[in-house]
Amino acid sequence: MKFFLDTADVDEIREWSQTGLLDGVTTNPSLILKSGRDIKEVLAEICDIVDGDVSGEVAATDYDTMLAEGRELAKIAKNICIKLPITMDGLRACKTLVDEGFKTNMTLCFSANQALLVAKAGGTYVSPFIGRLDDMAIDGMELIEEIRVIFDNYDFDTEILAASIRTVNHVKDCALAGADVATMPPSTIEKLVKHPLTDAGLAAFLADWEKTGQKI
Ligand code: E4P
Repeated sequence: MKFFLDTADVDEIREWSQTGLLDGVTTNPSLILKSGRDIKEVLAEICDIVDGDVSGEVAATDYDTMLAEGRELAKIAKNICIKLPITMDGLRACKTLVDEGFKTNMTLCFSANQALLVAKAGGTYVSPFIGRLDDMAIDGMELIEEIRVIFDNYDFDTEILAASIRTVNHVKDCALAGADVATMPPSTIEKLVKHPLTDAGLAAFLADWEKTGQKI
């Protein structure tokens, strides 16, 4: 499973890219707002740091303007992935942009049928939002499982990019369900490495090593 960072904070992206664990980045208009930066400027900087796909979202809702904005964003760098909402105009724009050789990430997916439409439109990624479904007492992980079955039934190439991830268990369950990518905030990736038994075990090993008086 690929790990994407869900942020437009370049300092955090730079830090995580040094670990070698980072496969890409997703942004959205809210994250651009939070960064306080110009969208093209910040996406260019992110694309410079990360080799993998970097999603930049269009702001238009009609087909023609979505196309124009998508092509404009794609000029920023080779690894830009054009993010579009799942609407009829968005799906149509996805098909056109994919036919032109661009990568797309179809966002705000809340049903298996929406994911099926994205696969039929040839989308590179579909982004089901787990956390926002959980917020409404609907099991977001069930959606990931359903999409996995549908995509496997028909050998669709569209990748499942699990989004709106809020907990470490979301990450584990996405991996068990066969999501291709999990995009998560830096605070969640940080928590994945933590285990109290690892900390306690390491402290004990270090104390015993000190007593040996040896050096490597
Ligand atoms: C993904 O592409 C979205 O930017 C993101 O995961 C949304 O997460 P949220 O529901 O926590 O805002």
